[in-house]
Order: sequence, then structure tokens, then C-alpha cells
Amino acid sequence: MDQSGSDAPRVTRRLASADEAAALLRAGGLVAFGTETVYGLGADATNPRAVAGIYTAKGRPRFNPLICHYPTAAAAFRHVRASPLALRLAEAFWPGPLTLVLPRRADCPVALLAGAGLPSLAVRVPAHDLAREMLSLAGRPVAAPSANRSGRVSPTRAAHVLADLGGRIDAVLESGPCGMGLESTVLDLTGALPVLLRPGFITRAALEAIAGPLGEAAAPGAAPASPGMLASHYAPRLPLRLNAARPRLDEAFLAFGPAKGGGLIFQLSAARDLTEAAARLFEGLHWLDAEGARLGLAGIAAAPVPAGGLGEAINDRLARAAAPREPPPLANPPSRHIE
Ligand code: TXA
Ligand code: MG
Repeated sequence: MDQSGSDAPRVTRRLASADEAAALLRAGGLVAFGTETVYGLGADATNPRAVAGIYTAKGRPRFNPLICHYPTAAAAFRHVRASPLALRLAEAFWPGPLTLVLPRRADCPVALLAGAGLPSLAVRVPAHDLAREMLSLAGRPVAAPSANRSGRVSPTRAAHVLADLGGRIDAVLESGPCGMGLESTVLDLTGALPVLLRPGFITRAALEAIAGPLGEAAAPGAAPASPGMLASHYAPRLPLRLNAARPRLDEAFLAFGPAKGGGLIFQLSAARDLTEAAARLFEGLHWLDAEGARLGLAGIAAAPVPAGGLGEAINDRLARAAAPREPPPLANPPSRHIE
């Protein structure tokens, strides 16, 4: 079981006002809310602990990148770099069921965990008045996957959310039934051509009317790979050694629990709290990679992390970061490939 305490039962309140939902989000709570597509399970995207709580509540075995929700396009484009095409698509389809994947700005305050450590971020402005009111009052981006447990059906009513996540989240904002019941279309704008990552209510034809022909996914005919599934989409440049009791002299150390000695150490959680460790994982890998390279170290050693609860997702991510690098593509590298 998860030892973090965040798995402890919660009293799930039913809220009617955007005000209360926003206050709970600002306080780090987990709040489900309706959108025009499905109910999302929201958390303050700038608070890594709150974002880690989403994965705990959903029982997600992996850290998939999440969509950040904003009340306006202007708010979204303060955190990602909008190309002229992104501006045209936002003009045409926002608010609405289109998610755009764009490069994070250097000063983007969204927790790395929300984007699974990627240099890009998925953003959207939902076409739902109560949701936008809540987002505007929250005054910060809200990361929200669909509000169901991993492997279950996406919820389109508050009652579905309560049946699935009641006792695991802090509140549901009663937002009525969702009109569409299908998740948003996801379009990747980080490459030379836009690529449809997830089909949805906004069709390829509607997108092409504005964007021109879309690019092909990496492997022709293959279903688009979710970036969370690519073996080394985020891997530190320094080699990573797993399940290390202690670092060698020429290694940095990703610690979990008390760590003795000097050297370059990033502590995931001194108290061995898995939610805290999840919240700090990507920060730690980035920091050790940069500092380790600066100091001329040969690699990073990672302490063992127990398998239960969020430990499964943490270990999955560590294993990917330690995996042998994908060989360089032979020719014409697919533009959508995210490194
Ligand atoms: O309609 C929706 O989009 C709902 C409501 C709540 O807004 N949300 C939703 O979120 O479906 P989620 O987490 O279930 O789906 C996120 C999708 C995944 O397919 C994920 O791979 C993709 O967006 N995604 C997120 N960030 C990405 C990134 N940086 N690069 C590529 N794909 C990304
Ligand atoms: Mg989902």
C-alpha cells in the first residue's frame, strides 16, 4: 500500500459554487469539475504535491502528461509559446474541446510532474461557463485528466465521479451532465507540421481547414504513441543506475530516505513519503543531470523506491530514464518525436 498518507480516505464534498471549488484548488485540494467533454479531476498545476495526488487518486500506474486548463487563451499563452498557427486555432476553437501541445515557456510555473517531465505542455480552454469561472477564480492553471480511476470509463456526470472516486478526492463541483462525453482532440504543435495525437469532437477536417495538411504520426499507420510511453522521451544525459544502495565517488545520488555522506544529493523524500517523492522526481532528475554534468560526474545513482502505490509510477519513470537511449533515426526523423 501507499505509505504516503495521501491514500487515506477523504470526505468528498459536493459543491455548487465555483468560489468554493477555486478555494479548495488553491489550498492544494483535488476537485473534480465538469467540462463540455467529460469531468476532469483537477489540481493546482503549479503545486507538485497536489498533482501527485491526482495520480494517487486515479491509481494511475504511470505519470502520463496531463492537460492544463485555463479560463482564457491569453492565460494559456502566458505559460506556453504560441506559434501563429496556435493563435489561429485558439481563435477558431477556444473555448472548446481542442487541446494544443506547445513548448513550455522558460518561466512556466507548471510543475514538471504535470507534464511528465516533457519540454512541452498540453493546454486547453474548456467551453463550460462554471469551469471557466472556477479556473478564473483559482487564478492558476488546473491540471486535470478525466475524473475516473485508471482503466474505468470517463465520467460525464457528478454521480459517476462520486461512484468511482468518492472518498478519494476532496470535492466534486456539480456542473451538470457533460454535453459531449468524449475527450478533447489533442493536437501536437511542437513539430514542423501539426500532428493529431488524439481524435475527438473537433475533426481532422475541421483542423485542416485552418492548419492545412496535418503531419503523419511517427510510424505510418501506427496509433500515435502517447509520449508517456516512449522509452526515453525524457532521459537525463548522464547514465542512471537503479536500485543503488549508495552512490559511487563519481556519481550523483537520487536519495529516497536518509542519505549519509557528501557529494551531489537530491532527496526525493527523507520521510520516504511516495507522494512527496513523486512530486519531486522530475525536478530531481533535471537538477542532478545539470549539476552532475557541470561537476564532471560520470552518472546518477538512484536509491531503491518501494513498489506499492505511487512507487509503481515512480519506478516506471526511473526505468525509462535508465533505459538504453533509442538509436538515432536513420533519415528524415519524424518531426513529432518528443525528446
Ligand atoms: O476532454 C479532455 O481533454 C479531458 C477534460 C477533463 O479536459 N481531459 C483529458 O485529460 O482527457 P487526459 O489526461 O485523460 O488526457 C491527456 C491527453 C493524453 O492523451 C496525453 O498523452 C496528452 O493529452 N498529452 C498531455 N500532455 C502532452 C504533451 N506534453 N505532449 C503530448 N501529449 C500530451
Ligand atoms: Mg482519461
